[in-house]
Amino acid sequence: MTRLGLLTCLSLAYWASGASAAPAASCTFTDAASAKAGKGSCSTITLSNIKVPAGQTLDLTGLKDGTRVVFSGTTTFGYTPWEGPLISISGNKIDISGASGSLIDGGGGQWWDGKGSNGGKTKPKFFFAHGLSNSNIRSLNVKNTPVQAFSINGCTNLNVDHVTIDNSAGDVGEQGHNTDAFDVGSSNGVFITNANVRNQDDCLAVNSGTNILFSGGYCSGGHGLSIGSVGGRSDNTVDGVRIENSQVVNSENAVRIKTVSGATGLVNNVTYANIQMSGISKYGIDIQQDYLNGGPTGTPTNGVKVTNVNINGITGSVSSGATRVYLLCGSGSCSKWKWSGVSLTGGQKSTKCTNVPSPATC
Ligand SMILES: *[C@@H]1O[C@H](CO)[C@@H](O)[C@H](O)[C@H]1NC(C)=O
Repeated sequence: MTRLGLLTCLSLAYWASGASAAPAASCTFTDAASAKAGKGSCSTITLSNIKVPAGQTLDLTGLKDGTRVVFSGTTTFGYTPWEGPLISISGNKIDISGASGSLIDGGGGQWWDGKGSNGGKTKPKFFFAHGLSNSNIRSLNVKNTPVQAFSINGCTNLNVDHVTIDNSAGDVGEQGHNTDAFDVGSSNGVFITNANVRNQDDCLAVNSGTNILFSGGYCSGGHGLSIGSVGGRSDNTVDGVRIENSQVVNSENAVRIKTVSGATGLVNNVTYANIQMSGISKYGIDIQQDYLNGGPTGTPTNGVKVTNVNINGITGSVSSGATRVYLLCGSGSCSKWKWSGVSLTGGQKSTKCTNVPSPATC
């Protein structure tokens, strides 16, 4: 048996019998450097109570096909202001899971200053799922990400199931900010099911991509289930998103599509079905074409088309100061919408809706 850092080869097996078969080791690592150095020779990588040093990424990029990654015990990260990511994993047919009782603790409180990614300390992004294909991320238990949690980019057929992200500690004194749970871009086939999120920004934000599903989710404390903002990036097409059977509570918005003021692009074939909301402080349903990070302009533009939107079965209540439905479309840019089963109580009716395509109503 060979030893490589703290790599322990617990068992050696073979993928298949035959002279050309590659050895398939089951490896347990207790430090990040050994995991990075040894990742290429393991079929199963167990990450056991790893303390990732400050300023370093737990780097499991370029894994060989079929690798399984198991987070075991508690994974923690040292503190320094930097951009991250704290964790990065890529490859084909990768299965990433959390063992029973495991926790990935982002230690966000060390960075939180109420400014998120808009200023203050430089905060590391949490998890890059960039370039994962035919892969699973499942049963991860995450808390306290410094800023955005999962960045899903350049992925094909990625299942994200039963991932819990609890950033509720960041609500105290409004210290946690821009803690998006799932940011999806330039991917084809991302299926996020049974997510449980407590955060301070979008629960889901789809900036671009095709064939995206979010189903069976619970979102609390953030900005809701968002498409966008779309426009002004290198990829400005969102085509084929289904967001269904989910609950949004104590959040700014529930259902949201935001396109960037003056930009071009396409939002097509988006369904929101069976979404329940309560405690919404801004908008129950918000589709706005005037978005800018510094603040919406109030004047919609029509360079991003928003077509084949199906809003079906959106129920619940918004808070007294909130607006139930806000639809701010550019001239001619919103078309072919379906709208049924929208039943919201509380708050106010908007007086500012613009270019609303039938049969939608504010
Ligand atoms: C619309 O998007 C869904 C995925 O959300 C996809 O299954 C369906 O085929 C798309 N419809 C069209 C007409 O492209």
